Amino acid sequence: MTSPVVELRGLPSHVGIIMDGNGRWAQLRGLPRTEGHRAGSAAVRRVVRASRRLGVRALTVYAFSEQNWARPEDEVGTLMELLQEFLVSERGEILGNGIRLQAVGNLERLPAFVRTVLDPLAAESAGNHDMTLTLALSYGGREEIAAAARELSIEVQAGRMRPDDITAEALRARMPSLAVGDPDLVIRTGGEQRISNFLLYGLAYAELVFSDKLWPDFGADDLYAAVAAYQGRERRFGRVGKGVAPLSPTKAQV
Ligand code: FPP
Repeated sequence: MTSPVVELRGLPSHVGIIMDGNGRWAQLRGLPRTEGHRAGSAAVRRVVRASRRLGVRALTVYAFSEQNWARPEDEVGTLMELLQEFLVSERGEILGNGIRLQAVGNLERLPAFVRTVLDPLAAESAGNHDMTLTLALSYGGREEIAAAARELSIEVQAGRMRPDDITAEALRARMPSLAVGDPDLVIRTGGEQRISNFLLYGLAYAELVFSDKLWPDFGADDLYAAVAAYQGRERRFGRVGKGVAPLSPTKAQV
């Protein structure tokens, strides 16, 4: 297969990925679901590298949702272990390649063995500027909107803001997932076409690309194909587009 052609101009600045299909990938091979997550973790490595090489400024991966805590205990445990292993094994590559690592979500819920590797790596990489890798962990888009609304209501209650100051931008400014900008492109693997509580507020004008590939099978070429699809779209942000020439001029036009 030849690689998809990606233009270096007009790259999406912020790419978000809903990594779906680990469980099915394992099931198809008669393996436990946790093996699918292990293979999924390797796919994260590949896609982080490919994004960095391409010149994407921000990559946000949906690694664990607030709702994923309801999965069986051993699956949650394995996901947390894989996360910790990923942070340990990728530390050198992250720091050596100008990548800033951060996490968004209800981080208080993460086990201490994850926080003890996550927090120092976030601090150590904070000065890196080539790409920001955000792990959405214990993350929920609705929960993030509610937290931003709570922060604003405290400001109003304390008299530091007026209700009129509660604008779309004021709300947005209190959402950690959007500090790198709204996502331009959101990719979902695994064949489903839904958003599953990911970056809800920032998604307003994102381009969506759905891939049938199961996440562990997703590689650099699939990322390039998604970016090429994005580059073929016309983004209008609610305005009128360049449009298509009418088939034949109407009387009023001639
Ligand atoms: C969804 O697949 C995937 C997840 C809930 C977890 C994603 C986690 C990883 C890719 C690995 C660990 C992450 C990092 C950053 C190292 P699913 O289990 O819902 O798949 P299914 O729909 O086929 O059941």
